[in-house]
Amino acid sequence: MNNALKQLLSAHQARTETTLERWLPKPAITPASLHQAMRHSSLDGGKRVRPFLVYSAGQAMDIELDQLDGPAAAVELIHVYSLIHDDLPAMDDDDLRRGKPTCHKAFDEATAILAGDAIQSLAFHVLSHDNNIKVSAKRRLQMIDQLAVASGSRGMCGGQAIDLDSVGKNITLPALENMHIHKTGALIRASVMLGALSCENVSETPLKQLDHYAKCIGLAFQIQDDILDIEGDTATLGKIQGADIARDKPTYPALLGLNGAKQRAQELYQEALASLDSFDDKADPLRWMAEYIISRNK
Ligand code: IPE
Ligand code: IPE
Ligand code: MG
Ligand code: MG
Ligand code: MG
Repeated sequence: MNNALKQLLSAHQARTETTLERWLPKPAITPASLHQAMRHSSLDGGKRVRPFLVYSAGQAMDIELDQLDGPAAAVELIHVYSLIHDDLPAMDDDDLRRGKPTCHKAFDEATAILAGDAIQSLAFHVLSHDNNIKVSAKRRLQMIDQLAVASGSRGMCGGQAIDLDSVGKNITLPALENMHIHKTGALIRASVMLGALSCENVSETPLKQLDHYAKCIGLAFQIQDDILDIEGDTATLGKIQGADIARDKPTYPALLGLNGAKQRAQELYQEALASLDSFDDKADPLRWMAEYIISRNK
């Protein structure tokens, strides 16, 4: 990771932590175990890639950081909720997440289900309520709608359904790509779009270019996640290495081999960069993040 990215990522991580802390109910508030579970999974963990994308897309459009805090927290909350549910016994049945016990291990299954539900609701509360968001009511509604669609059955949840339905099956490359675009790509795309839409007068062309960038890195992100299940190590990942193979999950390396998967990620990275050709150096953080996504070790 280059030094500039390291510093910026850590600054945006700190902002995200502060914003989440501000919106999450305090742990002593009733029902305390639900609020503790929400905090366990949301605070102090994760790379915060999606908030980084909100901040960076917004800053490429000259939007102030405090106007981006709400959208950044909202996408991260949707992501956290998706991880809590993804780890449940009925789904991937994982015990470790972000170096800590998964929500249903630290609490119990019912609490984890409810924590996911409540975190999802909180995401939409933040996006509809945050006073630092300065866009018109119409634009705010468009942002809420984008996040809702990206999270639902035509986005992340739909991708998760395809994922679960594909376990143990031989699926084709287009089917795998479709699954990845939905389960992971949709929320990454929404992150970039929410950042860009924070600029009230953003025009059609840069919006389309950013959207194409986001589609490319969204798919690349999940390809690298699949690669890390093979090449990563549990301590660095903060989740159990080898879980996909153990569960016979369809992955990019399973279909294309490790080198094929890496080559595909590289192609998507180049395509993502090309989408930003007409942007100036204010879009550099987006370029650095694209590179990080395909070279990260966690
Ligand atoms: C993991 O996402 C789940 C996927 C969508 C592949 P991240 O790799 O962004 O996980 P955190 O947020 O850093 O823990
Ligand atoms: C998770 O994909 C995607 C979502 C949570 C929507 P994975 O199941 O591959 O994520 P990890 O590997 O458990 O983080
Ligand atoms: Mg999964
Ligand atoms: Mg999983
Ligand atoms: Mg995975």
